[in-house]
Order: sequence, then C-alpha cells, then structure tokens
Amino acid sequence: MGLPRGLRLWLLVLLAAAGAGIFLALLSSAGKPYPGPRAGARNTGTSRVSSGPKAVAHSGTRKSLPCQHPLHLAIQRHPHFLGRFNFSTPVLLSGGVFTQELWDHLSQRKAPYGWQGLSRQAIASTLGLLNSSESAQLFAPRGRLRDCVRCAVVGNGGILNGSRQGRSIDAHDYVFRLNGAVIKGFEDDVGTKTSFYGFTVNTMKNSLISYRELGFTSVPQGQDLRYIFIPSDVRDYVMLRSAILGVPVPEGHDKGDRPQTYFGPEASASKFKLLHPDFISYLTERFLKSKLINTNFGDLYMPSTGALMLLTALHTCDQVSAYGFITSNYQKFSDHYFERIKMPLIFYANHDLSLESALWRDLHSAGILWLYQR
Ligand SMILES: *[C@@H]1O[C@H](CO)[C@@H](O)[C@H](O)[C@H]1NC(C)=O
Ligand SMILES: *[C@@H]1O[C@H](CO)[C@@H](O)[C@H](O)[C@H]1NC(C)=O
Ligand SMILES: *[C@@H]1O[C@H](CO)[C@@H](O)[C@H](O)[C@H]1NC(C)=O
Repeated sequence: MGLPRGLRLWLLVLLAAAGAGIFLALLSSAGKPYPGPRAGARNTGTSRVSSGPKAVAHSGTRKSLPCQHPLHLAIQRHPHFLGRFNFSTPVLLSGGVFTQELWDHLSQRKAPYGWQGLSRQAIASTLGLLNSSESAQLFAPRGRLRDCVRCAVVGNGGILNGSRQGRSIDAHDYVFRLNGAVIKGFEDDVGTKTSFYGFTVNTMKNSLISYRELGFTSVPQGQDLRYIFIPSDVRDYVMLRSAILGVPVPEGHDKGDRPQTYFGPEASASKFKLLHPDFISYLTERFLKSKLINTNFGDLYMPSTGALMLLTALHTCDQVSAYGFITSNYQKFSDHYFERIKMPLIFYANHDLSLESALWRDLHSAGILWLYQR
C-alpha cells in the first residue's frame, strides 16, 4: 500500500504466486498460545465471558490486575524469539537524542531506516520540537497500579467484516489503528476507541483518496488520541514539524497542506510521536528480512504500516491482541473490512505480506501475541 496508482500496477506482484506456497513452515510450538484477550485463567475456553479480569476502557482510574499472559514471559520461554527481541532498542525518536553522532550514524542509511539524502535542517528542526520527555515514550507514565498494559492493534483486513469484535477491542487499555481505519458503520466489528493512529504521510493521504468512497473521509481524531509518524520520507519530518507548530506545510511535496485538517485543532509536541529509524531497521533485520530486499524492488521494500504498528505494540505493551491482520485463510475474506464487494487481497511489491503472515502465526503459536482468526 502507499504507492501512487501508476506505480502500483507496475509493482503488482509476483507474490501472488508465492502466496500459495507461503504457509509451509510450521514453527515448533515451544510456547502455548493464549486463549485470547477476554479469557480468564489459563486452560479456560475462549468463549467464556470473563468474570475475572476485564479491562475497562479508560484505564487511568481503574485498578489494574497482573497480566494473565505477559508477552515477556512467553518470549523467555521461546529460544527462537528470545534471540530476536531486543527491548533496549529505542522505539521513538525524540529531540534529546539529536547529536552529531546520531546524524553521522543515520545518514548512512536511506529512509525509513535513516536520513541519507535528507535535509539536515528539516530533520534537526523537527527533532528540536520533540524535546519533552513525552516525546520519548508512547504511553503516559504508568500509575502505580498499572501492572499490565493491554493493547489491541487493529489492521484493516476483511476478516473483521461481521466479526463483532468491537467490544473486545475497546476493552483494551490502548487501541492502535492505521491507514484507512474506517470506524463509522463498523463499530460492532472494530470498536470505536483509538489511542494511536499510525501512518506515513504517503499512506495516510493515499487512504483518504482511495477509501473516501468507502467511508474513510477523515483520519481518526480525538483529545486522547496520539499520532505515530513513520518516517519513510522527508515529507514525514516536514509534516510533523508543521503539525506541532500548527502552521501550513511550508515546503516540499505537501506544501500548503494544513495539518489541522488531518489531525484536528490541537498542535502540540505531546500529540505526535515519531518512530526511530533504528527501530524500523532493527524490526526489518530481526523480524521481517524479506527476500525482496535482494530484488529490483529492494529499495522500495519496507514492513507494512500494520506490521510496524503491531511490532511497536509488542515492544511497548505487556500483552497484545492483533485484529484484522493477515491469516492463513485470507482468501476467504475481502482485502479490507469496509469494502462492499469482495476484493482480493493485493500483494504489493513494496511489502512482504507472506512473510508478515508467517510471523503473526508464529508469534501467536509462541503465545507472544494473540491473533484474531476465524
Ligand atoms: C540491543 O540494543 C541495544 C541498543 O540498540 C544495543 O546496544 C545492544 O547491543 C543490543 N543487544 C543485542 C543482544 O542485540
Ligand atoms: C523545547 O523546545 C522549545 C522550542 O525550541 C522550547 O521553547 C522549550 O523550552 C524546549 N523545552 C524543553 C523541555 O527543553
Ligand atoms: C461483509 O459482511 C456482510 C454481512 O456479514 C456481507 O453481506 C458482505 O458481503 C461482506 N462484505 C464483503 C466485502 O465481503
């Protein structure tokens, strides 16, 4: 996703063929999948309405219970994933870390993994605005009783159409959404709560164009909502700076755009987060190192927006549920949950959905996340 229409045709993959052969490798299941976000104690069925821990929407005031299925524990038990997760990798980029050293380091790689060829001025001025401690962390500081941060990440997959997962999604402490996240008319299936919206300027604007007629007429907005910029281009730094300052975009691809039309009236650094290029690089290297990197499409390849959000949640939350992500039976469902007629899932050359699908399946088998399937 996120490519101009002309280019899309060009890049239309190739991977459709691979799609058939994707689901071969079955990982040994050292861990145990956990029964789902609403289940109570271990070994209870999935259908029981939990009488125990019930995460209620706004968590600031509620008394939190310990995690039933902390992902850290599942990782400890799983040698393969234990060797991949590195929780010391910084997730967000903020002003406090902008140094000559970082500049030298990041200018060696191209976006989204670095700053090669990008304007130092554009980057430095943006990072200079992300100088508060809030910019360095995703969540507001935990209250003393917050023992377990439960997150739902909602992809836009057709599997959610008719799923009736809305209440279960909204019951998480934080809900992540991305790109064409249509809510109106799909509340029963996808819920209404949005804590984070993740995007690149390119994917956001393409979603507003491509899915407008299907109901994506504006980006989710709200007082408690935070935006996660994925820095795939200098555009993202320039838009972010303008959004924080509350001014029209002064230069470049999006010149003249008013950020308020996307993100609402609040212009402040605390509203916006920026993924660290090193984090994207680490995720790609450790979790989604696609064979596409060594093809002609190598420079275009990057993990999908959904993958970046789900992996962000796995590095910041204690327990993660994934809804609307690709499953092995994806052919049963439309590309997106908000389509009116069934559209096949499109495999674009800039992402590797086959690899992502295998990763979600394996993380689910290992009990590190819970993947909604049906
Ligand atoms: C984990 O990440 C930190 C920060 O980037 C790095 O210093 C450390 O060497 C990494 N550890 C491993 C085992 O990869
Ligand atoms: C952050 O930067 C802004 C703009 O340069 C400045 O006004 C503010 O005092 C800085 N805040 C901190 C905590 O350094
Ligand atoms: C979505 O679900 C409804 C009812 O379950 C069904 O009628 C419709 O065809 C589905 N849409 C797509 C695009 O599959």
